[in-house]
Amino acid sequence: MQLFLDTANLDEIREAVNWGVISGVTTNPTLMAKEQISYQERVSEICQIVPGPVSVEVLAQDAASMVREAREFSTWAPNVVVKIPMTKEGLKAVKDLTAAGIQTNVTLVFALNQALLAALAGASYVSPFVGRLDDIGHDGMALVGQISALFQGCNFPTRVIAASIRHPLHVTQAAQAGAHIATIPFSVLEGMLQHPLTDAGVKRFLEDWQKVAPSLEKK
Ligand code: E4P
Repeated sequence: MQLFLDTANLDEIREAVNWGVISGVTTNPTLMAKEQISYQERVSEICQIVPGPVSVEVLAQDAASMVREAREFSTWAPNVVVKIPMTKEGLKAVKDLTAAGIQTNVTLVFALNQALLAALAGASYVSPFVGRLDDIGHDGMALVGQISALFQGCNFPTRVIAASIRHPLHVTQAAQAGAHIATIPFSVLEGMLQHPLTDAGVKRFLEDWQKVAPSLEKK
């Protein structure tokens, strides 16, 4: 199980990489828009910080334009993975990009059959969106489990990224459901780290030591 960071914010990426727990980054047009900087500039910056896969989403709607965009993105850095929406045109693009040796992440996956099609077209990754399914009363994590089991059973090399992760419990559940990766916002990463008993324990250890330290220093 690996963790990717779901952000285009450099401060968050630098901080998470320093913790030693992040293997890659995923972005999307919404996350990029928050940064108010060109795609190319920000993607190049992210790829210098993160050696692992960095997903960059196409904006085009038709397969030929998606492939054109993808080819351009892949010249920006060797670790760029092109994010392609789960549409008919997207599948055509995935097929062509796979043949060209360009890695793809099929995004906006909400059903098992969509994941199956993406894997058959040759996707390197598929991203089922857990939180957005939960939002409409479906069980997003059940889908992650079904896709993981299907891919394992069929020996598909496509990796499953649990996406649209909203809280730390989602990460635990994604690992248990067999996802290869969870891509998470920085706030969720921070939430995974925190425990009140850890804070209380650190405080108490220091206080206990401080009670004796002054007398020991005099000796
Ligand atoms: C995944 O790659 C997407 O960027 C992301 O997880 C979307 O999550 P959201 O539903 O919180 O926008």
